[in-house]
Amino acid sequence: MNNLDIYPQTDIQRRKFMEWIGLSSLALAIPGISLSGCTSGRFQEVEKQDFKNVFDLERLSRKVMGDDAIEYLNGGADDLKTVKANLEGYDKIQIRARVLIDVSNISTKVELFGQSLETPIILSPVGFQKFFHQEGEVATAKAAASRKHQMMLSTVSNYSVSEVAAAYGPNLWFQLYPTPDRKITKILLEKAEQAGCPVCVLTVDTPVVGNRETSATTLFKLIDAGELKMGNLDGILPEGMKFTDMTVTWEIIDWLRANCNMKIVIKGIVTREDAALALLHGVDGIIVSNHGGRQLESNRGTIECLPEIVEEVKGRIPVLIDGGIRRGTDIFKALAMGANAVCIGRPFCWGLGALGQEGVEIALDIPKAELIRDMQLAGTPSIEKITGDFVVVQ
Ligand SMILES: Cc1cc2nc3c(=O)[nH]c(=O)nc-3n(C[C@H](O)[C@H](O)[C@H](O)COP(=O)(O)O)c2cc1C
Repeated sequence: MNNLDIYPQTDIQRRKFMEWIGLSSLALAIPGISLSGCTSGRFQEVEKQDFKNVFDLERLSRKVMGDDAIEYLNGGADDLKTVKANLEGYDKIQIRARVLIDVSNISTKVELFGQSLETPIILSPVGFQKFFHQEGEVATAKAAASRKHQMMLSTVSNYSVSEVAAAYGPNLWFQLYPTPDRKITKILLEKAEQAGCPVCVLTVDTPVVGNRETSATTLFKLIDAGELKMGNLDGILPEGMKFTDMTVTWEIIDWLRANCNMKIVIKGIVTREDAALALLHGVDGIIVSNHGGRQLESNRGTIECLPEIVEEVKGRIPVLIDGGIRRGTDIFKALAMGANAVCIGRPFCWGLGALGQEGVEIALDIPKAELIRDMQLAGTPSIEKITGDFVVVQ
């Protein structure tokens, strides 16, 4: 655990550091630590340590996972401008704290889609989690369930939706990539419903995969060698067929309504115009997302997209947000700007890669503890109290 002095100590330094590592795999050559990630298997054993923040988990995950896995996880489109915009968007917002308010009892509960959730911090769908840890989505599901966080499962999970639901419980949300063949998409919906999923999260920002220049060679090799299965798609997706459909249009919402009973949440909305169309087509919720900066380059940060969408929606359906959320204050700011809940992607995967289920639990405990402290310091004992009055945008 020595020789990690290179790792920066302040939040701003950390963000800058993350930008830098995103741009250069040279950062993987931290002196004194072998980062090959390939001892006997793909993963290295590590000592446990105290984790002060999610960046500490990220640092450990670098030591444990191979270079390819960390590049796949932290990478984004082109020159990572959207990845950076997601992070930097939060730096443009400041909090207006109130004082002399009883903050001895803090509630982080929220209501979403007929469910009562203990916390507004939700796990974004992330594909191929076995690439980060042998137990993949099952470890994530056990951690999310033990800490009472809502989890979304990717279409391209390594474990199947029924296996993950068995580890998580009945309220897993299923993220759907519409395949080019509706018969296959229908089978996916049936699998999700049989597993008890109440919500289908339709990802709409991926007609094609974004231009990610960081290599994920090992991932593709493992998939080709049959070592990393696609739990939901293997056996139903014909060889050579992509799992995303570039012909899909707004008609898919009506098709989903006719073909499943799940609530339909649309993920990947970044404009007022598309929020209006989503409402017109009767979706049950919106996730403001740019896929963590992995799809279109030069998007705005999602927190910068949020206000126009909240304004358009006017409270008629829940609006969630993901992208670049790393701190309790980021969560606070997103809620103050009108989000009903927030989702996180990479941070829980750092935990998964570092320590499996326990690491995901730590990755969920840290932002929740930070949020509670921030709510106490800002004078907002419940989530409903966090309103636009508590932030200013520079
Ligand atoms: C490695 C990786 C894989 C992802 N896979 C999916 C996926 O299968 N489906 C999806 O809708 N979004 C996927 N996403 C996007 C996330 O759901 C989420 O939008 C993003 O990670 C949020 O940004 P953050 O990582 O900065 O928190 C993926 C993101 C990452 C980092």
